[in-house]
Amino acid sequence: MKAGFIQTHPEFGRIKENVESALKEIDSLDADLVVLPELFSTGYQFRTKEEALKLSEPVDGGYAAGRLSEAAKKKKIHIVAGFAEKAGKKTYNSSMLIGPRGVVGVYRKAHLFWNEKKIFSRGDTDLKVYRAGGAKIGMMICFDWIFPEVARTLALRGAEIICQPSNLVLPYCPQAMITRSLENRVFSITANRVGTEERVRGTRLHFIGTSQIVAPNGSVLYRAAGDGVEAASMDIKPEEARDKDITPMNNIFKDRRKDLFVL
Ligand code: ACM
Repeated sequence: MKAGFIQTHPEFGRIKENVESALKEIDSLDADLVVLPELFSTGYQFRTKEEALKLSEPVDGGYAAGRLSEAAKKKKIHIVAGFAEKAGKKTYNSSMLIGPRGVVGVYRKAHLFWNEKKIFSRGDTDLKVYRAGGAKIGMMICFDWIFPEVARTLALRGAEIICQPSNLVLPYCPQAMITRSLENRVFSITANRVGTEERVRGTRLHFIGTSQIVAPNGSVLYRAAGDGVEAASMDIKPEEARDKDITPMNNIFKDRRKDLFVL
């Protein structure tokens, strides 16, 4: 299968424009699975909870979910996209999986980063694994990377590809995701954005791009530039992620000394 990402440069608050420009990239990308960044339709830096609630959208009937569903149906593909999810009076920093028949599942970010804690409700969904075309996929969002239990749980549940919508501002994640892939023998796709936002005075955020696709052996199959909109996909074999043997005598799941670990 072909799996890839769109590295975007959203304009804060302009949902229609951001969705339509991502759709243009999706339309010209040859991929069965496409990952979009965290909060791809709204931008990142909300000033208040109220602003986030105003700009957030429900999965059912939301503009982003609707338009991405049309594209997934037309191209017979799966799309993972980060968005601000409205659920009653709460806003979640969420990721949706969309397939040819519409929304398949939603993951709400478990580990909120910095001021996100003032804006979003903490995720209350499980770390689920879904079938997407020929692969089993799991979703995590950006800062979830620093908690290795997230990728490990998805891998133990059978994920072959970890899809990670992101809005990275710290430099560590692209390198760390090589380890997340290697220690779990899974593919990972990190879709990041570029550009800067300073909607809160004194808090200027620069997003680092460098979206990437990593193989189960830790090799970086593709890494995007630190700036600029970019779309990329690679030919991958999800079944490679089913082999958890590192040597004939070491299986990374069976060898785990659970008797020594704090869980
Ligand atoms: C992040 O979790 N957006 C850094």
